[in-house]
Amino acid sequence: MVIAIDGPAGVGKSSVARMISQKCGFYYLNSGLFYRAIAYNQLLKGLAPHDRESALKTASSTSIDIKDGVLLVDGVDLGSRLRTQEVGMAASIVSSIPELRNIVNRRIREIVDNGLDIVAEGRDMTTVVFPDAQYKFYFDAKPSIRAKRRFDELGGSVEYDKILKEIEKRDNNDRNKVSGALKVAENAVVVDTSDLTISQVCDRVLKVIKWPKNK
Ligand code: DC
Repeated sequence: MVIAIDGPAGVGKSSVARMISQKCGFYYLNSGLFYRAIAYNQLLKGLAPHDRESALKTASSTSIDIKDGVLLVDGVDLGSRLRTQEVGMAASIVSSIPELRNIVNRRIREIVDNGLDIVAEGRDMTTVVFPDAQYKFYFDAKPSIRAKRRFDELGGSVEYDKILKEIEKRDNNDRNKVSGALKVAENAVVVDTSDLTISQVCDRVLKVIKWPKNK
């Protein structure tokens, strides 16, 4: 079974997808980390994320694996180094390159062999990567609320206004891509997470997928 979840940054996709995958015993796939891994390597080499030629080279030479649920970039668990605002913004830029998206999607399909039960989250899981997913969700929330969540996560170390601006910029970039643009898939269940806790969102998802099955 494939449960696919898309939505903009800071909407709670990762927390919910992780929780659902743990409850259901499914494999968890965070596709944003693939773009973050490539963006990270591009920045590490001192190259600009929008430099198409070098970004494609970086994508081809970056090895991405998932071992015991941990994403390894060239064999290394980069942990929080992949989750900075800077890497997020660079990921949004490199992911605008259609050929680079093909490289990522190919790698995702290699990792997720047929028949595996997974919860996959990102921007184009419901539309491009798993268009035949049994369950499709689109999470949304007001930009101001997403910025506040990110502000709290960072312990107030980055100004709220700066975070809000970056979120709006990233939304705009992610919604206007030539391929893999963020949009609501036909027949996706839309959940506004603005006023919901992570576990309330999880409950909504579990209700839709009728889990546990014997209840
Ligand atoms: O989900 P995230 O914030 O970690 O993703 C980082 C960036 O990667 C996001 O701004 C857009 C891009 N991305 C994408 O284009 N397609 C996906 N399936 C997942 C992420």
